[in-house]
Amino acid sequence: MRKVVHVVGARPNYMKATPVILGLERHTHIEQILVHTGQHYDENMSKIFFDQLGMPEPDFNLEVGSSSHAVQTAEVMIRFEAVVEDLQPDLVLVYGDVNSTLAAAVVAAKLGIRVGHVEAGLRSWDRSMPEEINRVLTDQISDILFTPSDDGDRNLNREGISSKKVHMVGNVMIDTLVRLLEKARQPEIPELQERFALVTLHRPSNVDDLSVFRSIINMLNEISGSLQIIFPIHPRTRKMITEGNISVQQNKGFIIRDPLGYLEFLWLQEHATVVLTDSGGIQEETTFLQVPCLTLRDSTERPITESLGTNIVVGNDMALAKEEVLRILNGNGKVGSIPPLWDGKTGERIAGILAEES
Ligand code: UD1
Repeated sequence: MRKVVHVVGARPNYMKATPVILGLERHTHIEQILVHTGQHYDENMSKIFFDQLGMPEPDFNLEVGSSSHAVQTAEVMIRFEAVVEDLQPDLVLVYGDVNSTLAAAVVAAKLGIRVGHVEAGLRSWDRSMPEEINRVLTDQISDILFTPSDDGDRNLNREGISSKKVHMVGNVMIDTLVRLLEKARQPEIPELQERFALVTLHRPSNVDDLSVFRSIINMLNEISGSLQIIFPIHPRTRKMITEGNISVQQNKGFIIRDPLGYLEFLWLQEHATVVLTDSGGIQEETTFLQVPCLTLRDSTERPITESLGTNIVVGNDMALAKEEVLRILNGNGKVGSIPPLWDGKTGERIAGILAEES
């Protein structure tokens, strides 16, 4: 019997881990253990996803919570080391690019346990993003790396990582989308209009810098005159609205909600006229759904969503964002195609590779 430990910590990890867990269930010589670091702990940032995605209950919850990057990363390391020493797994699988990803990878690598990184090789080339540091370092210490697209393979090759360790398997998060699209359900928003812009914001570069944050909210206030804005708000962003005294013209045209469940958010993405976001995963989900996406960041670590998909990176150019929204409203939004291997079978491919090597 081989032991695989999956580590999840924050909202975007859950939809990436579930397909691998499901894929491995068929391989009965592999025992699976799920560790939640507790980086995200609010009901609507964590539990609701476990329920809706059909994820097993975590075997361990490290309950690290929020704090500075150093403290959060260190707490995951301290608490995860004890779990790994006790379990002695054959492989630790980490997902994406959050602080929990890097922390768990470092612990396993230093204990001489193999590390697998799902969603490897993505690069924004912007080292001011905490996620970029997490990606680069996790990839360097991983023994087996699963990439979503061939830009990932090229990036890893450039960084000296042997191609023998790298497997291009497609986009694992899209597996969850494909599996659950039929179950997507309309959230309870009585004022919801037929056409609307869906907005998410939580990057420190957008919401912690008050002048940038203000300019984005001003742009959204202006757009809300011609297109309804639906804004499910991340806890970090809500905090900044209060602390920064940011004025949001909440009315029928500009609706703020608490973070939504996966199925409700998926429904909104599917039906949105346009999505404005600084998330990574949403750039990919809109590409798959072929819904226009404007990314409010200077760079993307998912360039295939621009080259093939519906994504346009507009940075902090609010005039450009408004112009693009108008273009979309006039029916001239970007049309894209779905990248290779974004087919709902990535989890199976990863499981097949892991089962074969063990
Ligand atoms: C983290 C990830 C980011 C990912 C995002 C998705 C890192 C470096 N960043 O950012 O890549 O896109 O998750 O959401 O790992 N908070 C709550 N309740 C929660 C979780 C957070 O109130 O359940 C608040 C806390 O006040 C905390 C703040 O949100 O200080 C930020 O949380 P944190 O996990 O540090 O980073 P995110 O911004 O969520």
